[in-house]
Amino acid sequence: MATAEAPLPFHLRGNFAPVSREVTAFDLPVQGALPRALRGRYLRNGPNPTSGTSPHWFVGDGMVHGVELRDGRALWYRNRWVRTRKLVEDAPSFRPDGERDRTVGLANTHVIAHAGRTLALVESSFPTELTRELDTVGCHDFDGRLTTAMTAHPKLCPRTGELHFFGYGYAPPFLTYHRADAAGQLVQSEVIPVPGPTMIHDFALTEGHVVFMDLPVVFDLALGQTGAFPYRWSDDYGARLGVMPRGGRAADVRWHEIAPCYVFHPLNAFEADGALVLDVVRYPELWRESASDAPRATLHRWTVDLRGGGAVREQPLDDRAIEFPRCDERRVGLPNRYGYAVHTGRGLDTSTGTALIKYDLRDGTSAAHDCGPGRVPAEAVFVPAADDAAEDEGWLLAYVYDSARDGSDLVVIDASDVSGKPVATIALPQRVPFGFHGSWLGDAS
Ligand SMILES: [Fe+2]
Repeated sequence: MATAEAPLPFHLRGNFAPVSREVTAFDLPVQGALPRALRGRYLRNGPNPTSGTSPHWFVGDGMVHGVELRDGRALWYRNRWVRTRKLVEDAPSFRPDGERDRTVGLANTHVIAHAGRTLALVESSFPTELTRELDTVGCHDFDGRLTTAMTAHPKLCPRTGELHFFGYGYAPPFLTYHRADAAGQLVQSEVIPVPGPTMIHDFALTEGHVVFMDLPVVFDLALGQTGAFPYRWSDDYGARLGVMPRGGRAADVRWHEIAPCYVFHPLNAFEADGALVLDVVRYPELWRESASDAPRATLHRWTVDLRGGGAVREQPLDDRAIEFPRCDERRVGLPNRYGYAVHTGRGLDTSTGTALIKYDLRDGTSAAHDCGPGRVPAEAVFVPAADDAAEDEGWLLAYVYDSARDGSDLVVIDASDVSGKPVATIALPQRVPFGFHGSWLGDAS
Protein backbone atom coordinates (compact mmCIF):
# COMPACT_ATOMS: atom_id res chain seq x y z
CA MET A 1 0.00 0.00 0.00
CA ALA A 2 1.32 3.40 -0.91
CA THR A 3 2.05 5.65 2.03
CA ALA A 4 1.43 9.34 2.02
CA GLU A 5 4.57 11.43 1.64
CA ALA A 6 5.60 13.33 4.75
CA PRO A 7 4.64 16.98 4.43
CA LEU A 8 7.48 19.32 3.59
CA PRO A 9 8.97 21.14 6.58
CA PHE A 10 7.77 24.71 6.97
CA HIS A 11 10.94 26.23 5.53
CA LEU A 12 10.35 24.60 2.13
CA ARG A 13 6.65 25.41 1.83
CA GLY A 14 4.69 28.49 0.74
CA ASN A 15 6.76 31.63 0.62
CA PHE A 16 9.59 29.98 2.53
CA ALA A 17 10.22 27.86 -0.56
CA PRO A 18 13.24 28.97 -2.58
CA VAL A 19 12.96 30.59 -6.00
CA SER A 20 14.82 28.97 -8.87
CA ARG A 21 15.75 31.89 -11.10
CA GLU A 22 17.89 34.99 -10.96
CA VAL A 23 15.86 37.85 -12.42
CA THR A 24 16.85 41.32 -13.59
CA ALA A 25 14.07 43.81 -14.24
CA PHE A 26 14.13 47.54 -14.92
CA ASP A 27 11.70 50.40 -14.30
CA LEU A 28 9.33 48.57 -12.03
CA PRO A 29 5.65 49.52 -11.77
CA VAL A 30 5.01 51.84 -8.82
CA GLN A 31 1.62 52.38 -7.25
CA GLY A 32 1.52 55.68 -5.32
CA ALA A 33 4.38 58.16 -5.23
CA LEU A 34 7.93 57.12 -4.39
CA PRO A 35 9.62 59.82 -2.30
CA ARG A 36 12.43 61.44 -4.29
CA ALA A 37 14.54 61.50 -1.13
CA LEU A 38 14.94 57.72 -1.48
CA ARG A 39 18.20 57.46 -3.39
CA GLY A 40 19.95 54.14 -2.98
CA ARG A 41 19.40 50.43 -2.77
CA TYR A 42 17.34 48.31 -0.45
CA LEU A 43 19.02 44.90 -0.14
CA ARG A 44 17.86 41.88 1.84
CA ASN A 45 19.45 38.47 2.32
CA GLY A 46 17.95 35.07 3.04
CA PRO A 47 18.43 31.34 2.53
CA ASN A 48 17.57 30.00 -0.91
CA PRO A 49 19.06 26.53 -1.42
CA THR A 50 20.23 25.97 -4.99
CA SER A 51 19.14 22.34 -4.73
CA GLY A 52 15.65 23.43 -3.76
CA THR A 53 15.93 21.65 -0.42
CA SER A 54 17.76 21.99 2.89
CA PRO A 55 17.56 20.29 6.28
CA HIS A 56 16.92 23.53 8.24
CA TRP A 57 15.79 27.04 7.35
CA PHE A 58 19.15 28.43 8.47
CA VAL A 59 21.29 26.38 6.07
CA GLY A 60 20.29 27.39 2.52
CA ASP A 61 22.62 29.24 0.15
CA GLY A 62 22.35 33.01 0.54
CA MET A 63 20.34 35.00 -2.00
CA VAL A 64 20.17 38.79 -1.97
CA HIS A 65 17.11 40.58 -3.34
CA GLY A 66 17.65 44.24 -4.14
CA VAL A 67 15.79 47.25 -5.53
CA GLU A 68 17.39 50.55 -6.52
CA LEU A 69 15.28 53.68 -6.00
CA ARG A 70 16.05 57.08 -7.53
CA ASP A 71 14.23 60.18 -8.81
CA GLY A 72 10.89 58.78 -7.72
CA ARG A 73 11.44 55.62 -9.77
CA ALA A 74 12.25 52.01 -8.99
CA LEU A 75 15.19 51.59 -11.36
CA TRP A 76 15.80 47.87 -10.97
CA TYR A 77 15.16 44.65 -9.15
CA ARG A 78 17.78 41.94 -8.98
CA ASN A 79 18.04 38.71 -7.05
CA ARG A 80 21.39 36.95 -6.97
CA TRP A 81 22.77 33.98 -5.17
CA VAL A 82 25.87 34.85 -3.22
CA ARG A 83 28.45 32.83 -5.13
CA THR A 84 30.32 31.46 -2.15
CA ARG A 85 32.99 28.77 -2.39
CA LYS A 86 30.33 26.44 -1.01
CA LEU A 87 28.00 27.20 -3.90
CA VAL A 88 30.54 27.45 -6.74
CA GLU A 89 33.02 24.69 -5.79
CA ASP A 90 31.04 22.75 -3.19
CA ALA A 91 34.14 23.42 -1.07
CA PRO A 92 34.22 21.47 2.21
CA SER A 93 33.54 23.40 5.41
CA PHE A 94 36.53 21.81 7.15
CA ARG A 95 40.22 21.82 6.26
CA PRO A 96 42.14 18.53 6.15
CA ASP A 97 43.47 19.30 9.66
CA GLY A 98 39.90 19.40 10.99
CA GLU A 99 39.81 23.18 11.38
CA ARG A 100 36.72 25.04 10.19
CA ASP A 101 37.44 26.80 6.88
CA ARG A 102 36.00 30.29 7.35
CA THR A 103 36.29 31.04 3.62
CA VAL A 104 33.46 28.54 3.12
CA GLY A 105 29.97 29.51 4.21
CA LEU A 106 26.44 30.20 3.07
CA ALA A 107 26.44 34.04 3.38
CA ASN A 108 22.67 33.94 3.88
CA THR A 109 21.77 36.10 6.88
CA HIS A 110 22.40 39.81 6.42
CA VAL A 111 23.82 42.30 3.96
CA ILE A 112 25.44 45.55 5.08
CA ALA A 113 27.79 48.22 3.83
CA HIS A 114 30.94 49.43 5.56
CA ALA A 115 33.89 51.45 4.31
CA GLY A 116 32.63 51.29 0.73
CA ARG A 117 32.11 47.54 0.70
CA THR A 118 28.83 45.67 0.44
CA LEU A 119 29.10 42.52 2.56
CA ALA A 120 26.87 39.45 2.73
CA LEU A 121 27.15 37.85 6.17
CA VAL A 122 26.58 34.56 7.94
CA GLU A 123 27.75 33.90 11.47
CA SER A 124 29.84 30.82 10.68
CA SER A 125 32.20 32.38 8.15
CA PHE A 126 34.04 35.39 6.78
CA PRO A 127 31.94 38.02 4.96
CA THR A 128 31.44 37.81 1.20
CA GLU A 129 31.84 41.05 -0.75
CA LEU A 130 29.28 41.96 -3.42
CA THR A 131 29.26 44.59 -6.17
CA ARG A 132 26.65 47.32 -6.31
CA GLU A 133 24.69 45.09 -8.69
CA LEU A 134 24.89 42.07 -6.39
CA ASP A 135 27.54 40.08 -8.21
CA THR A 136 29.98 38.27 -5.94
CA VAL A 137 33.53 39.61 -5.55
CA GLY A 138 34.72 37.03 -3.00
CA CYS A 139 35.63 36.47 0.60
CA HIS A 140 36.61 39.50 2.68
CA ASP A 141 38.93 38.69 5.60
CA PHE A 142 40.13 42.22 6.43
CA ASP A 143 43.48 41.70 4.66
CA GLY A 144 44.02 38.43 6.48
CA ARG A 145 43.56 39.94 9.93
CA LEU A 146 40.23 38.28 10.67
CA THR A 147 40.84 34.79 12.02
CA THR A 148 37.38 33.92 13.34
CA ALA A 149 33.92 33.84 11.88
CA MET A 150 32.02 37.13 11.80
CA THR A 151 28.55 37.63 13.21
CA ALA A 152 25.82 38.60 10.77
CA HIS A 153 24.90 41.43 13.17
CA PRO A 154 27.85 43.84 13.36
CA LYS A 155 27.06 47.26 14.82
CA LEU A 156 28.01 50.38 12.90
CA CYS A 157 28.61 53.17 15.40
CA PRO A 158 26.82 56.26 14.06
CA ARG A 159 29.25 58.55 15.93
CA THR A 160 32.61 57.05 14.92
CA GLY A 161 31.89 55.00 11.81
CA GLU A 162 33.57 52.03 13.50
CA LEU A 163 32.20 48.55 12.87
CA HIS A 164 31.99 46.50 16.07
CA PHE A 165 31.45 42.76 15.74
CA PHE A 166 32.40 39.36 17.10
CA GLY A 167 32.86 35.79 16.02
CA TYR A 168 31.81 32.69 17.90
CA GLY A 169 32.66 29.06 17.42
CA TYR A 170 32.12 25.62 18.91
CA ALA A 171 35.88 25.23 19.51
CA PRO A 172 38.09 27.66 21.48
CA PRO A 173 38.20 30.58 21.31
CA PHE A 174 34.44 30.41 21.77
CA LEU A 175 33.97 34.18 21.53
CA THR A 176 36.18 36.88 20.00
CA TYR A 177 35.37 40.59 19.80
CA HIS A 178 36.54 42.66 16.82
CA ARG A 179 36.55 46.32 15.90
CA ALA A 180 37.21 47.82 12.46
CA ASP A 181 37.83 51.53 12.08
CA ALA A 182 35.81 53.76 9.77
CA ALA A 183 38.22 52.99 6.92
CA GLY A 184 37.53 49.27 7.28
CA GLN A 185 40.84 48.29 8.91
CA LEU A 186 40.57 45.66 11.62
CA VAL A 187 42.18 47.38 14.60
CA GLN A 188 41.24 45.21 17.60
CA SER A 189 40.57 41.52 18.19
CA GLU A 190 39.97 40.37 21.74
CA VAL A 191 39.26 36.83 22.96
CA ILE A 192 36.39 37.01 25.49
CA PRO A 193 36.46 34.07 27.94
CA VAL A 194 33.09 32.31 28.33
CA PRO A 195 32.35 28.98 30.04
CA GLY A 196 31.49 27.05 26.90
CA PRO A 197 30.33 27.08 23.29
CA THR A 198 26.93 28.73 22.87
CA MET A 199 25.05 30.11 19.89
CA ILE A 200 25.65 33.88 19.95
CA HIS A 201 23.65 35.41 17.13
CA ASP A 202 23.82 39.11 17.98
CA PHE A 203 25.09 41.56 20.59
CA ALA A 204 24.67 45.21 21.56
CA LEU A 205 26.62 48.44 21.40
CA THR A 206 26.22 51.62 23.43
CA GLU A 207 28.16 54.88 23.54
CA GLY A 208 30.58 53.48 26.11
CA HIS A 209 30.22 49.69 26.05
CA VAL A 210 29.74 46.52 24.07
CA VAL A 211 27.44 43.86 25.52
CA PHE A 212 27.74 40.13 24.86
CA MET A 213 24.87 37.71 25.45
CA ASP A 214 26.04 34.31 26.78
CA LEU A 215 22.76 32.40 26.77
CA PRO A 216 21.90 28.72 27.27
CA VAL A 217 21.60 27.45 23.70
CA VAL A 218 24.69 25.25 23.71
CA PHE A 219 26.68 23.36 21.09
CA ASP A 220 26.08 19.61 21.27
CA LEU A 221 28.49 17.55 19.16
CA ALA A 222 26.52 14.32 19.66
CA LEU A 223 23.41 16.03 18.33
CA GLY A 224 25.34 17.31 15.33
CA GLN A 225 26.63 13.82 14.59
CA THR A 226 23.04 12.64 14.15
CA GLY A 227 22.68 15.20 11.35
CA ALA A 228 20.49 17.46 13.47
CA PHE A 229 21.14 21.17 14.04
CA PRO A 230 23.93 21.01 16.66
CA TYR A 231 22.56 23.48 19.21
CA ARG A 232 20.01 22.86 21.99
CA TRP A 233 18.62 24.40 25.14
CA SER A 234 20.55 23.74 28.38
CA ASP A 235 18.99 23.90 31.84
CA ASP A 236 22.49 23.99 33.38
CA TYR A 237 24.43 26.62 31.46
CA GLY A 238 22.90 29.75 32.98
CA ALA A 239 22.56 33.13 31.29
CA ARG A 240 24.64 36.25 31.58
CA LEU A 241 25.42 39.56 29.93
CA GLY A 242 29.06 40.53 29.49
CA VAL A 243 29.69 44.29 29.56
CA MET A 244 33.01 45.57 28.21
CA PRO A 245 34.01 49.23 27.97
CA ARG A 246 34.61 50.29 24.37
CA GLY A 247 38.35 50.30 23.88
CA GLY A 248 38.67 47.92 26.83
CA ARG A 249 40.14 44.45 27.01
CA ALA A 250 38.79 41.03 27.88
CA ALA A 251 39.90 41.51 31.50
CA ASP A 252 37.57 44.50 31.73
CA VAL A 253 34.43 42.48 30.97
CA ARG A 254 31.94 42.34 33.85
CA TRP A 255 29.34 39.57 33.76
CA HIS A 256 25.78 40.05 34.97
CA GLU A 257 23.48 37.09 35.62
CA ILE A 258 20.01 37.17 34.08
CA ALA A 259 17.06 34.78 34.00
CA PRO A 260 17.68 32.01 31.42
CA CYS A 261 16.21 32.83 28.02
CA TYR A 262 17.30 33.20 24.41
CA VAL A 263 17.61 36.35 22.33
CA PHE A 264 18.42 36.36 18.65
CA HIS A 265 18.04 40.14 18.30
CA PRO A 266 18.24 43.24 20.44
CA LEU A 267 16.18 46.15 19.13
CA ASN A 268 18.73 48.64 20.48
CA ALA A 269 20.76 49.45 23.59
CA PHE A 270 21.84 52.70 25.20
CA GLU A 271 23.11 54.27 28.41
CA ALA A 272 20.98 56.32 30.79
CA ASP A 273 21.51 57.39 34.40
CA GLY A 274 24.43 55.06 35.06
CA ALA A 275 22.65 52.06 33.59
CA LEU A 276 22.67 50.13 30.34
CA VAL A 277 19.25 49.67 28.80
CA LEU A 278 18.80 46.80 26.33
CA ASP A 279 15.51 46.24 24.54
CA VAL A 280 15.47 42.70 23.18
CA VAL A 281 13.15 40.15 21.59
CA ARG A 282 13.17 37.44 24.24
CA TYR A 283 12.30 33.74 24.04
CA PRO A 284 11.59 32.18 27.45
CA GLU A 285 13.46 29.17 26.09
CA LEU A 286 14.51 27.84 22.70
CA TRP A 287 15.12 24.44 21.12
CA ARG A 288 14.48 22.24 24.15
CA GLU A 289 13.03 19.40 22.07
CA SER A 290 14.52 20.19 18.66
CA ALA A 291 15.79 23.07 16.58
CA SER A 292 12.42 23.28 14.85
CA ASP A 293 10.75 24.63 17.99
CA ALA A 294 9.57 28.15 17.31
CA PRO A 295 8.10 29.53 20.52
CA ARG A 296 6.76 33.06 20.89
CA ALA A 297 9.17 35.89 21.53
CA THR A 298 8.25 39.26 23.00
CA LEU A 299 9.77 42.67 23.59
CA HIS A 300 11.63 42.79 26.90
CA ARG A 301 13.88 45.32 28.64
CA TRP A 302 17.04 44.58 30.59
CA THR A 303 18.38 47.46 32.69
CA VAL A 304 21.92 46.79 33.92
CA ASP A 305 22.98 48.88 36.91
CA LEU A 306 26.59 49.84 36.18
CA ARG A 307 27.14 51.86 39.36
CA GLY A 308 25.83 49.54 42.07
CA GLY A 309 26.09 45.81 42.41
CA GLY A 310 25.44 45.09 38.76
CA ALA A 311 21.91 43.78 39.18
CA VAL A 312 19.79 43.45 36.06
CA ARG A 313 16.18 44.59 36.19
CA GLU A 314 13.90 42.65 33.84
CA GLN A 315 10.73 44.13 32.44
CA PRO A 316 8.34 42.82 29.77
CA LEU A 317 7.33 45.64 27.43
CA ASP A 318 4.69 43.92 25.30
CA ASP A 319 2.92 40.58 25.09
CA ARG A 320 2.62 40.29 21.32
CA ALA A 321 4.83 37.84 19.44
CA ILE A 322 7.40 39.74 17.38
CA GLU A 323 10.74 39.29 15.63
CA PHE A 324 13.10 41.20 13.35
CA PRO A 325 13.36 44.31 15.56
CA ARG A 326 15.02 47.39 14.09
CA CYS A 327 15.56 51.02 14.97
CA ASP A 328 16.76 54.09 13.14
CA GLU A 329 20.39 53.21 12.31
CA ARG A 330 21.40 56.73 13.38
CA ARG A 331 20.32 55.77 16.94
CA VAL A 332 22.25 52.49 17.25
CA GLY A 333 23.82 52.55 20.72
CA LEU A 334 22.13 55.87 21.54
CA PRO A 335 18.82 56.54 23.28
CA ASN A 336 16.02 55.81 20.83
CA ARG A 337 12.34 56.61 21.06
CA TYR A 338 11.07 54.35 18.30
CA GLY A 339 11.50 50.75 17.27
CA TYR A 340 9.97 48.54 14.59
CA ALA A 341 9.26 44.82 14.43
CA VAL A 342 7.32 42.16 12.53
CA HIS A 343 4.27 40.85 14.38
CA THR A 344 4.75 37.11 13.92
CA GLY A 345 2.68 34.04 14.51
CA ARG A 346 5.46 32.29 16.42
CA GLY A 347 9.15 32.88 16.75
CA LEU A 348 11.04 33.51 13.55
CA ASP A 349 8.16 32.07 11.52
CA THR A 350 6.70 35.25 10.10
CA SER A 351 4.44 33.45 7.64
CA THR A 352 1.12 34.17 9.32
CA GLY A 353 1.42 37.72 10.63
CA THR A 354 0.24 40.57 8.43
CA ALA A 355 1.39 43.52 10.53
CA LEU A 356 4.42 45.62 11.28
CA ILE A 357 4.53 47.23 14.71
CA LYS A 358 6.00 50.62 15.56
CA TYR A 359 6.87 51.00 19.24
CA ASP A 360 7.07 54.36 20.97
CA LEU A 361 9.38 53.27 23.77
CA ARG A 362 9.33 56.64 25.47
CA ASP A 363 5.57 56.82 25.85
CA GLY A 364 4.97 53.06 26.06
CA THR A 365 2.56 53.03 23.13
CA SER A 366 2.54 51.36 19.74
CA ALA A 367 0.90 51.53 16.34
CA ALA A 368 0.55 48.90 13.65
CA HIS A 369 0.60 48.75 9.89
CA ASP A 370 -1.64 45.96 8.67
CA CYS A 371 -0.58 44.92 5.19
CA GLY A 372 -4.00 43.46 4.45
CA PRO A 373 -5.45 39.94 4.23
CA GLY A 374 -2.87 37.38 3.14
CA ARG A 375 -0.17 40.02 2.82
CA VAL A 376 2.80 39.10 5.00
CA PRO A 377 5.59 41.57 5.72
CA ALA A 378 9.24 40.73 6.25
CA GLU A 379 11.71 42.77 8.29
CA ALA A 380 11.22 46.52 7.90
CA VAL A 381 14.15 48.94 7.62
CA PHE A 382 13.84 52.63 8.49
CA VAL A 383 15.23 55.19 6.04
CA PRO A 384 15.45 58.81 7.27
CA ALA A 385 14.11 61.54 4.98
CA ALA A 386 17.40 63.43 5.40
CA ASP A 387 20.56 63.09 7.47
CA ASP A 388 19.17 65.48 10.09
CA ALA A 389 15.54 64.30 9.94
CA ALA A 390 13.66 63.55 13.17
CA GLU A 391 13.78 59.98 14.46
CA ASP A 392 10.61 58.82 12.71
CA GLU A 393 10.75 61.28 9.83
CA GLY A 394 11.25 58.93 6.96
CA TRP A 395 10.01 55.61 5.64
CA LEU A 396 9.85 51.95 6.44
CA LEU A 397 10.82 49.66 3.57
CA ALA A 398 9.77 46.03 3.63
CA TYR A 399 9.17 43.20 1.22
CA VAL A 400 5.57 42.04 1.52
CA TYR A 401 4.41 38.64 0.26
CA ASP A 402 0.95 38.65 -1.31
CA SER A 403 -0.39 35.13 -1.00
CA ALA A 404 -3.36 35.81 -3.32
CA ARG A 405 -1.07 36.24 -6.33
CA ASP A 406 1.95 34.36 -4.97
CA GLY A 407 4.05 37.47 -5.55
CA SER A 408 5.84 40.16 -3.61
CA ASP A 409 5.98 43.94 -3.37
CA LEU A 410 8.45 46.38 -1.91
CA VAL A 411 6.26 48.56 0.28
CA VAL A 412 7.17 52.08 1.41
CA ILE A 413 5.38 53.27 4.56
CA ASP A 414 5.50 56.72 6.18
CA ALA A 415 7.18 55.96 9.53
CA SER A 416 5.44 58.89 11.21
CA ASP A 417 2.06 57.50 10.14
CA VAL A 418 2.52 53.73 10.07
CA SER A 419 -1.19 52.99 10.33
CA GLY A 420 -1.83 54.86 7.09
CA LYS A 421 -1.77 53.42 3.60
CA PRO A 422 1.67 52.85 2.05
CA VAL A 423 2.98 55.88 0.21
CA ALA A 424 4.23 53.58 -2.54
CA THR A 425 4.02 49.92 -3.48
CA ILE A 426 6.46 48.49 -6.01
CA ALA A 427 5.35 45.28 -7.67
CA LEU A 428 8.30 42.90 -8.05
CA PRO A 429 8.70 40.52 -10.99
CA GLN A 430 8.80 37.46 -8.74
CA ARG A 431 8.06 36.59 -5.14
CA VAL A 432 10.73 37.24 -2.52
CA PRO A 433 10.90 34.27 -0.14
CA PHE A 434 10.76 34.98 3.59
CA GLY A 435 14.34 35.65 4.60
CA PHE A 436 16.35 37.33 7.27
CA HIS A 437 17.90 40.79 7.32
CA GLY A 438 18.65 43.71 5.06
CA SER A 439 19.88 47.27 4.81
CA TRP A 440 19.16 50.50 3.04
CA LEU A 441 22.37 51.50 1.33
CA GLY A 442 22.09 55.16 0.49
CA ASP A 443 24.27 56.80 -2.13
CA ALA A 444 27.07 57.40 0.37
CA SER A 445 27.37 53.66 1.14
FE1 LIG B 1 19.50 37.69 12.84
